[in-house]
Amino acid sequence: MSTVLTIGADADLVARFTEAGSGDVLALRADALTEGVVLHHLAGPDAPALVVLGPGVPLADSFALAGQVDGAAPGTSVVVVAVADPELWIEAMRAGVRDVLSPHASTADVTAVLDRATARAEARRAAAVAAPLAHTRRVVVVAGPKGGVGKTTVATNLALGLAGAEPGSTVLVDLDVQFGDVASALALVPEYTLPDTVRGAASNDPLVLKTFLTRHSSGLHVVAGSDSPAAGDAVTAAEVARLVDMLSAEFRYVVVDTAAGLTDHTLTALERATDLVLIGSMDVPGVRGLRKELDVLGELQLVPAHRHLVLNGGSSAGGLALADIERTVGATLDLVLPRHAAVPLSTNTGVPLLLKGGKDPVTRGLQTLVGRVAPAAAAANGRRGRRRVGAR
Ligand SMILES: Nc1ncnc2c1ncn2[C@@H]1O[C@H](COP(=O)(O)OP(=O)(O)O)[C@@H](O)[C@H]1O
Ligand SMILES: [Mg+2]
Repeated sequence: MSTVLTIGADADLVARFTEAGSGDVLALRADALTEGVVLHHLAGPDAPALVVLGPGVPLADSFALAGQVDGAAPGTSVVVVAVADPELWIEAMRAGVRDVLSPHASTADVTAVLDRATARAEARRAAAVAAPLAHTRRVVVVAGPKGGVGKTTVATNLALGLAGAEPGSTVLVDLDVQFGDVASALALVPEYTLPDTVRGAASNDPLVLKTFLTRHSSGLHVVAGSDSPAAGDAVTAAEVARLVDMLSAEFRYVVVDTAAGLTDHTLTALERATDLVLIGSMDVPGVRGLRKELDVLGELQLVPAHRHLVLNGGSSAGGLALADIERTVGATLDLVLPRHAAVPLSTNTGVPLLLKGGKDPVTRGLQTLVGRVAPAAAAANGRRGRRRVGAR
């Protein structure tokens, strides 16, 4: 099927559309409408992006057809050729017409109308493809009772792993509102930070919100932490709730890095989480802290459907046996990451471990975690062979 279907348009206009659309135009006479052949052209997945109803078609018929097209081919835009006045515009828009094109429209006008229609058709197609995946949407909160236990390391690498598997799928939010360091861990210099995204136009328009995100070279989107602790503190739990809700409507994976302990912001994110990655350090206070946090979250009924317990920085030198740790925590550990020199090196250079694709046990452990959160993403990363996750 052609990209453009014109009905009752004069040869001049058809020529302009042919020029704008690289020749991909099917021109029908106005009587095709009364013969009922038009809807036949609109059926199926190859419906045109644009139907142009020329001056040969009475306006009332054009408006009636626009309504039918909306139902039969939602990815198709209808444009009416007419001298537009405000009243006609309103009537046309109500009828489902997307654009009113002047009979004297230039090639540039025609190109603009066609571009808008093509973009709409593509967005529609993308939405149709994404719809069956809606149930795989995940909000992953990375939390832990203490600072310095690897929350940011895990959150940034997990987000990179998910983004590497599916471009444009993932946003990482730095909810460590006072001392967030996600931007530094990814060597980003953000133009906007968390407070900017929860106020003004960004807070109620997803399109605006997306322009406030910082993009990492891997394709990962980031809401960077605030520049100053005071500005970060002023962000309310309600604002965080709204932000997470908006992001999870736009991105398949929302990964949230948090401050130590159970702050209001963290609890708010957890209310929306499908996954909790809970991280503790491999020492006695760290293990006890993990147990306490898990207990409190259980009492608050804030442990989401998927829980991943991670112990970080482990070495046999500490003298703690895994079995003892699991007994104290009261649960099986899902991942143990050893202490390794590659981690601080990565933190200090802003090149995350998964981008480097090293063979060290921490990188491998983080890849395992990506697979636990999203098996499909891990498989996609695997298919990329040895090319390293998200590497350019
Ligand atoms: N497994 C590990 N081995 C060595 N150093 C680590 C490990 N995990 C984290 N680190 C280092 O510990 C510091 C704190 O890690 P970070 O991820 O910022 O923790 P948090 O976000 O919980 O405060 C960083 O300098 C990081 O490089
Ligand atoms: Mg941190």
